[in-house]
Amino acid sequence: MDDHDHKLVWDASLYQENSSFQFSLGLDAIARLAPRPGERVLDIGCGNGATTAELARRVLPGGEVVGMDVSSEMLAQARANIDEAGLSNVRLVHQDMATLAIVGGFDAVFSNSSVHWVSRLDDLYRRVHAALVPGGRVVVQTGAAGGNALVDALHDAMAEPLLATLFAGFTWPWQFCTPAEAERILEEAGFSAISVEAHDKLTSFPTEAALIGYCRAAALIPFLSHLPEPRRPVFLECFARHLLARNGARPLDLVMPRLFILAAKP
Ligand SMILES: C[S@@+](CC[C@H](N)C(=O)[O-])C[C@H]1O[C@@H](n2cnc3c(N)ncnc32)[C@H](O)[C@@H]1O
Repeated sequence: MDDHDHKLVWDASLYQENSSFQFSLGLDAIARLAPRPGERVLDIGCGNGATTAELARRVLPGGEVVGMDVSSEMLAQARANIDEAGLSNVRLVHQDMATLAIVGGFDAVFSNSSVHWVSRLDDLYRRVHAALVPGGRVVVQTGAAGGNALVDALHDAMAEPLLATLFAGFTWPWQFCTPAEAERILEEAGFSAISVEAHDKLTSFPTEAALIGYCRAAALIPFLSHLPEPRRPVFLECFARHLLARNGARPLDLVMPRLFILAAKP
């Protein structure tokens, strides 16, 4: 992760209000992990802790979940959510997952909508492998390469005459893999029983405000924070216009290509 990423400030309440899509993907990922009572699970990029809490319920009795995130705003929200849920088997850690240096101890490493924010996925999966016990498993839900109107609309907006020079030198924030790339990275990290499922996940928003709220709560953060304050409304307006145009006849539908990655440490 580079310096640019470290400066990202998440609005945890905006995320909380606009992340039902991520949460539903998280439940799909948890179903694939099938956590068992007594297990120790590491949730990397745990965000507001909604999926972390679900994991924590499923490892009871006797199990523990460690939620790791680089954003102190998200961790504060996670603490509040976990306390409100009355769960005492969750530990939250403020750490960049790119510097994960735990050796063994976890039955599973889980991640929902987070690992694509890390620049070196090969290095990350080697670290995830090291954190697992032999026979431990990893389940990751993440963005997939290609066919993404939101990404295309971001490129459209960045190329607008009023904005293009401001984005010169901008570091693209996400690593979206093809299934073949993900399989190769996991294999090289030492995993076996690798399965990569690609799904185009559709989510429909009731209003344009809800659609843009979803985008602002996560995807737009690096782009808006890169711009000087007075340019942000122009970017938002351009992005919304391009996204609605790219969505065509169903402007409030968003198709998000995702990967569900499952593997085990031999
Ligand atoms: C879209 S949110 C997903 C949160 C949560 N997993 C969920 O399912 O709702 C992405 C999260 O990844 C975190 N994140 C991004 N880069 C990270 C890194 N290098 N290390 C740890 N967390 C990171 C962000 O702070 C944010 O909380």
